Amino acid sequence: MRLVGVGMGPGDPELVTVKGVRVLQEADLVVVPVMEAAEQGRAEATARANVRHDRLLRLVFALDDRGGATVARFAAWEAAADTVATRLREHGGTIAFATIGDPNVYSTFTYLADAVRERMPEVVVETVPGITAMQDLASRSGTVLCEGTESLALLPLTAGVAALEGALAHFDTVVAYKGGRHMPAVLEVLRAQGRIDDAVFGAALGLPDEQVRPAAEVEGEAAYLSTVLVPPRRGGRASKLTDTGTT
Ligand SMILES: C[S@@+](CC[C@H](N)C(=O)[O-])C[C@H]1O[C@@H](n2cnc3c(N)ncnc32)[C@H](O)[C@@H]1O
Repeated sequence: MRLVGVGMGPGDPELVTVKGVRVLQEADLVVVPVMEAAEQGRAEATARANVRHDRLLRLVFALDDRGGATVARFAAWEAAADTVATRLREHGGTIAFATIGDPNVYSTFTYLADAVRERMPEVVVETVPGITAMQDLASRSGTVLCEGTESLALLPLTAGVAALEGALAHFDTVVAYKGGRHMPAVLEVLRAQGRIDDAVFGAALGLPDEQVRPAAEVEGEAAYLSTVLVPPRRGGRASKLTDTGTT
């Protein structure tokens, strides 16, 4: 019995791996997280665009519930884990969980897998990596994420704007997720630290209402599906290469 978290990329149905598609295609059941049982989720849209069967089941999660491990979120993980464990007990086989981006980067899959393991320690948990929103924004905005000896920090703005200030001070490239309602504070920090000019903002990447633009042009709050990428101050071509650096 296996539970496999499969990365579906940020939104563009073409940004999935060949392995991810094969695992979804071969799974006995593909479960997809949704906000409402009647509404198609984003991972589901990409899954449906890539598989030829209809063995899909929606699991309702409080996906954008604010405030961390709230009662609603906890209850959703427990109910979803019950459904998955019952299904594995009764039918065995492989259940694939389609998740946006990468299953090991801020994904609901982590919580679901933990809760299923609690119920059935014998279940083998695996993941298939996916393309993250961070990578997609770098690509769509033509921004190099890292070169040479540069470091990279990825953080959620739900950890507070102070975490962003710390990351800007200690790392070269900084990427911030979950920033929508914190955007005004984020822009203030970037302006104060002289980092606004090269920073890029991306929302709904790969989706019909996609936005990719300089962070300096953003005003007010943004949607939950927003990412901010702050490249380092670079001195010119390959300025961060050391004698031993090759890429
Ligand atoms: C719960 S995390 C999921 C991250 C995802 N597992 C990944 O690997 O990129 C949700 C955050 O990812 C970012 N994100 C995911 N999909 C996105 C998209 N299509 N456009 C912009 N940001 C996105 C946003 O910062 C959002 O708040």
